[in-house]
Amino acid sequence: MRRWLALDAFVRMTLRAAIASLALAALVLFVPSRPGMAEQPIIIKFSHVVSPDAPKGKAAILFKELAEKYTNGKVKVEVYPNSSLYKDKEELEALQLGSVQILAPSISKFGPLGVKEFDVFDLPFLMSDDARARQMFASPMIGEFNKKLETKGVKSLAYWDNGAHVYTANKPLIMPDDFKGMKMRIQGSKVLDAAARELGAIPQIMAFSELYQALQTGVVDGEDNVPSNIWTQRFYEVQKYLTVSYHGRLIYALITNKKFWDGLPEDVRQGLDRAVKESTDFFNETAAKDNADALDKIKASGKVEVHVLTPEERQAWIAKLMPVHTEMQSRFGKDFIDQVYKSAGFTPAL
Ligand code: LMR
Repeated sequence: MRRWLALDAFVRMTLRAAIASLALAALVLFVPSRPGMAEQPIIIKFSHVVSPDAPKGKAAILFKELAEKYTNGKVKVEVYPNSSLYKDKEELEALQLGSVQILAPSISKFGPLGVKEFDVFDLPFLMSDDARARQMFASPMIGEFNKKLETKGVKSLAYWDNGAHVYTANKPLIMPDDFKGMKMRIQGSKVLDAAARELGAIPQIMAFSELYQALQTGVVDGEDNVPSNIWTQRFYEVQKYLTVSYHGRLIYALITNKKFWDGLPEDVRQGLDRAVKESTDFFNETAAKDNADALDKIKASGKVEVHVLTPEERQAWIAKLMPVHTEMQSRFGKDFIDQVYKSAGFTPAL
């Protein structure tokens, strides 16, 4: 009797499973496929560490709109600002793993990728002039940097120039000696580390998302950045002094995972290329204006004392920091650095 009941239950169960799979097959076969049902959009996660109203934040949103438009909805871009998805270091690892598809980090953070050559752009005063920076990033030499990135599975789509750096601190930084003993936050580059030490400061690598609190609590005494970041992250609320030194530059590389990009359908890649081009033009225009406006707004806030280096003071900084160029010849090789100088039209005051 028990065996009969067990057999009965088995037959029922098999029957139910057969009916269910038949129903599913019918569903797939007979229900008319709505457009896009089969073609789920390709999801592109775009993670970054700045606020949505900073130049990079705005350009990321524009990229999203253009990418979805120029691919007729075949891609869906999800933008994650303010380190909401990944912080500085994590985002590069996530890109290499394919967990995120597009980033626009500062090239001063490429050390952990194992492409130390990008640190060369942090050589003091090398990139302080707008025209030189544009010349450098339009030069054929950039192709060599891109190739090095591709060996790490990363493809560079464009470079976004966010302008020259200024310093903020909780005391005036007018002459190089003012940096002595100061705890200064830096991005991850070895050259920035060497420059801070040359000034007698104590460099501390720190994620961008932790910087406001670190300045507020005195974990660090100061930092360097572009005015639009100082304004949109409200660093001016926790720093009393700003020095317009233009000693370095904030360049972003718009990057993607190479395997992901190469695997895209041709028409989608073409649409994305167009979105990259137009959002890059937008970025470079917007950044210049936003940084000038931000400096005015910081001044107008009355919360920060702003000092523009005089030509004499600037000369003193250059003289103090040029030894970093010589020191870095052992890291990059003199020929490589000379090639960068030539590409950027830079004459070192060595
Ligand atoms: C920084 O870490 O200070 C900047 O690179 C942040 C950014 O992406 O602008």
